[in-house]
Amino acid sequence: MVLKSPPKRKVIVGLVWGDEGKGKVVDELTYDGLTEDENTLVVRYQGGKNAGHTLIFMLNGKWHKFVTHAAPSGIVRGTDIAIGPRVAFDPIAFVKELNQANELLDGYKGRILVSNRAGICFEYHGLIDAAVESAGKGVGSTKSGIGPFYEDLARRTTRITFQDYLSERFPDRLKQVLEHKKAEMEAMGISVKGMLERLVETHKEPRNRLKDFGVDLEYRMTEYMKNGANIIIEGAQGSGLDRDMGDIPNTTSSELLAPCAFSSLGLRRQDFEIIGVEKIYPTRVGDGDFPTYATDSFAQVGDLNGEFGASTGRRRRVGYPDWVMARRNAWLNECDGIVLTRADGVQDRQMKVCTAYDVNEKVTTEVPVSLTGVKPVYGSNVYQWKLWEGHRNLADPLNEPLELTKARADYVAGGREALPQELRRFVDDHDRFVGCKTIGVSIGPKSGDTIYF
Ligand code: IMP
Ligand code: MG
Repeated sequence: MVLKSPPKRKVIVGLVWGDEGKGKVVDELTYDGLTEDENTLVVRYQGGKNAGHTLIFMLNGKWHKFVTHAAPSGIVRGTDIAIGPRVAFDPIAFVKELNQANELLDGYKGRILVSNRAGICFEYHGLIDAAVESAGKGVGSTKSGIGPFYEDLARRTTRITFQDYLSERFPDRLKQVLEHKKAEMEAMGISVKGMLERLVETHKEPRNRLKDFGVDLEYRMTEYMKNGANIIIEGAQGSGLDRDMGDIPNTTSSELLAPCAFSSLGLRRQDFEIIGVEKIYPTRVGDGDFPTYATDSFAQVGDLNGEFGASTGRRRRVGYPDWVMARRNAWLNECDGIVLTRADGVQDRQMKVCTAYDVNEKVTTEVPVSLTGVKPVYGSNVYQWKLWEGHRNLADPLNEPLELTKARADYVAGGREALPQELRRFVDDHDRFVGCKTIGVSIGPKSGDTIYF
């Protein structure tokens, strides 16, 4: 392998509550400058199929849409892909996406690496998650089993690793775990009768499909580094949902800040650039307080931009920009740059920006552990820009009008200076407040609809 350009090594994380467009940015940064003989590895380091990355990209002269839940976004490009040890790995969902990619790419040629240490997220994790939610004792989860999976991870004895999964011991190991969890499940009304046999049967095929992919990933990562490969590490959820640094308990169950990627993958921070993806207007799904939640006409932005969960179809709540949260998360992630997304989604709307919180009648720029009762304090600046005539974001991105595609392409070609002045002012004020430089602004859902500065 001959390197044609310096290796691009990046960690891509979400800066608010998820659904910022990380998948799209990963795709752009993976694909950008990629030559046939270059080696690119895209890695997932946390979360599971609670994630939903929507990718809209050009392949063989046609636009395609692909949603990944279990697999890293690189799957649509046939890059090498890896699953880290802290991922809630769902083999069935993964194989399904692999099959889709196989069809799309006419055979998957990239290498697939799954850490032998990764834990398996089973159907029963989903059943427990759903039972907790329907008993009204959850956090409005995606019901994909994430909470119960990470409980098992912390409990240790009920964690089934990918190594266990592939080995001949698997049925015995699963039997042991189900015995251990039987009382817990039955107390929730989940019958374990026949579950072992059922699981052994349904996992026969995925175990066979995945049998060659188990690796000691930290060592293989070192080799990729030595070989000068491009490595893109992608976060699944948004930093506001971090298990320890989000608003407890309304978080997901994994640690998702960028530094967690390095510790679990055996990599060093100084070898990577960390890019935060920030949707200009934040959205939140599930329970949890949302300081800038919009109760006025700004909320229409949600419907106009199709803000529905890619994993659950739930309506996402929409809020005004929250720079207090963005600043905290850019800092905690050690971001080197930010990509602002959905600048097209708020065009023609007057927008205020949250620059402080009112916590128990004290104005602060620090984010407390609970957001209950926190009121936004908006700065005196408001912003409004127009990219093109009319609000045409509802158009199906696979079949958008040619004039819209052209308008977007013109902005991409024009670069930063061609952007509306009001949008540039927004970016400048944002960067000053958040303390991190914007390196790109996204103006459309398709891969390539981003102006990188
Ligand atoms: P869980 O991760 O399914 O346990 O859900 C916990 C919380 O995180 C809920 O509020 C979910 O709506 C939220 N959440 C989890 N994954 C995502 C995601 O990929 N995008 C947005 N919200 C998410
Ligand atoms: Mg998503």
